[in-house]
Amino acid sequence: MTRLGVNIDHVATVREARKTFEPDPVQAAYLADMGGADGIVCHLREDRRHIQDRDLDLLKRSVTSHLNLEMAAVEAMVQIALKVKPDMVTLVPEKREEVTTEGGLDVRSSLQRVTSAVTALKGAGIVVSLFIDPDMIQIKEAVRTGADFVEFHTGSYANAGSAVDEAIELEKLERGAQAAAKLGLGVSAGHGLTYHNVQPIAAIPDVEELNIGHSIIARSLMVGIEQAIRDMIELIRTA
Ligand code: PXP
Repeated sequence: MTRLGVNIDHVATVREARKTFEPDPVQAAYLADMGGADGIVCHLREDRRHIQDRDLDLLKRSVTSHLNLEMAAVEAMVQIALKVKPDMVTLVPEKREEVTTEGGLDVRSSLQRVTSAVTALKGAGIVVSLFIDPDMIQIKEAVRTGADFVEFHTGSYANAGSAVDEAIELEKLERGAQAAAKLGLGVSAGHGLTYHNVQPIAAIPDVEELNIGHSIIARSLMVGIEQAIRDMIELIRTA
C-alpha cells in the first residue's frame, strides 16, 4: 500500500504564532505514529517560520518510523542534515516571501549545486529525494544528480480549476511516475493533497509514498490527529 508521510510543520506554525511552547510538533509526531503514519516529514526553513532546530533534534531522537527532512539545497542546511542524519532529505526550492513551496526544484539550472548536496548527503547514508514537477527534463536531470527518489509536486493537480485541467495534471503525474520508476527512481508525491483529491493520486501504481501536511493538520483541530490520520489512511487504502 502507498505509504503516508505526515508533515507536522503547521503544528509548529500555531506555536510560532505566539512564540510559545505549545502545541509541540514533537508530541504531534508521537500521536501521528499512533494514528498509523508511516513517517514524519518536517521542513526546516531558512527563516525558521515553523519548525525550529530544537524540533528537528528532538524528532530525530524520538521518531522511530521514518524521518524525512525537507530543506533547501544550500550549504548551511546540508551541514545541519549531516549532523542530525534524518532517514531521508527532500531537497526543495525555497523563497523567503512564499507562503508555501511553489513549484518544484529546477534541477536543470542548479545541477551542480544539487548534485553536490546529493553526494554529500548520500555519503552520510541519508536517502535523498528531489521535489520536482512531473516533467521529463527534470526527471532525467534528477537521475544525473544521483538522487534516490523524486517527489512530484501535486500543486497543479490540487489547484486545477476544472475537471479537464485536473485530468490533464493527473495524466502528467501518472506518466512522470512511470518514467521515473523506469529510470530506477523511487517516487513519492505531495502538496495540496486533501481528503477530497487524494484518491486518484494514491491510485497511481508507481507512487510509493504520499506526503501530506496542511489538510491533515487542519482536520486534526476538529477530530484529533490520530483520527485525522486514520481517515486519510482509509482513503489511501481504498483508492
Ligand atoms: N511535500 C513537500 C516537498 C512539501 O514542501 C510540502 C509542504 O511543506 C508537502 C509535501 C505537504 O504539502 P501540504 O501541506 O500542502 O500537504
